[in-house]
Amino acid sequence: MEKGKKAIVMSGIRSTGFLHLGNYFGAIRNYVRMQEEYECYFMVADIHSLTTHPDTKELRQNVHRVLAENIACGLDPEKVALYCQSHIYETAELYMYMNMLAYKGELEKTVTFKEKVRLHPENVNAGLLTYPVLQAADILLHRATLVPVGKDQEQHLEMSRNFANRFNHRYGEVFPEPFAFNFGEELIKVPSLDGAGKMSKSENQYATLYLSDDDELIRKKVMKAKTDSGPTEPFSVKPEYIENIFNLMRLVSAAEVLAKFEADYDNCIIRYGDMKKQLAEDMVAFIRPVRERAEAIRNDHAYLERIMEMGAEKARESARKTMDLVRTAMGLKYY
Ligand code: TYM
Repeated sequence: MEKGKKAIVMSGIRSTGFLHLGNYFGAIRNYVRMQEEYECYFMVADIHSLTTHPDTKELRQNVHRVLAENIACGLDPEKVALYCQSHIYETAELYMYMNMLAYKGELEKTVTFKEKVRLHPENVNAGLLTYPVLQAADILLHRATLVPVGKDQEQHLEMSRNFANRFNHRYGEVFPEPFAFNFGEELIKVPSLDGAGKMSKSENQYATLYLSDDDELIRKKVMKAKTDSGPTEPFSVKPEYIENIFNLMRLVSAAEVLAKFEADYDNCIIRYGDMKKQLAEDMVAFIRPVRERAEAIRNDHAYLERIMEMGAEKARESARKTMDLVRTAMGLKYY
């Protein structure tokens, strides 16, 4: 990196539904910290949404919601470029060039592709197959090196690095390698409340806590989380669904609260009903202010439109510079 120059950060969230705790702890919490130190580009991946949600009736509302929820979580549109993917046409151009460097075999092996084929066998479109190429274009367009994401995106990042390296090898050094990033820790996966999989925007909705859930719904969902009758041996290993509850508590509860329940577990005197009640209250206290701020922002359409335009301008400036380097390296300049 050039001396004195800030590292470049890029990430995105699809506009396919309501944001949840997984999106917050896997991605947005990092964005909010990174905006203080780095040059940041964060966007709503509306084009990616079309690979699985071709119906666009709710798209505008969803895009507005994702923007509002990001801002409600503490993202400052003055400090970062907060924009919408489809507003940056250069993305499509880079995606096209990158498609020539991506192979059918590797795309077919992608875990997320295989999962989507299984879930929606009736809509296996080419956009779905080349999803990781579009994601690489999003990142490489800003020549970003740090990509704050949850664990589920690790393979996409590895593919982005491969595409970047292939481009550099063939046409000359243009792109630095991008890496998945989480502050000081391993990439995270926020589990679903039923212990079966992860929290998700479009599946498993009763076991996912959304940033828009009201207090009663949060309590209900937490109280329904799977538990058992408790350990019978001191210092037992926790089953995964119990570890999940501790993990959720680790995210939103005070350290001494967590320590108390850890000790109760180790001494075989834990009462899961009490633990879930405590977790529910801490969850309500965490989600409520975000939900209230997001509601207010979401209804201010003029503000959101201004934000989007301001973000797109910043993103276009960076995109134009990169595409100039790309076209020069590829020999696409004929006059
Ligand atoms: P998406 O919209 O599925 O998720 C947005 C972000 O939230 C993280 N995440 C989670 N983290 C922890 N636990 C969970 N249960 C959980 N669920 C979701 C995701 O890892 C992600 O960071 N392909 C991307 C969108 C994208 C993108 C990009 C990301 C498009 N272009 C460029 C980074 C860079 C996606 O589908 O995210």
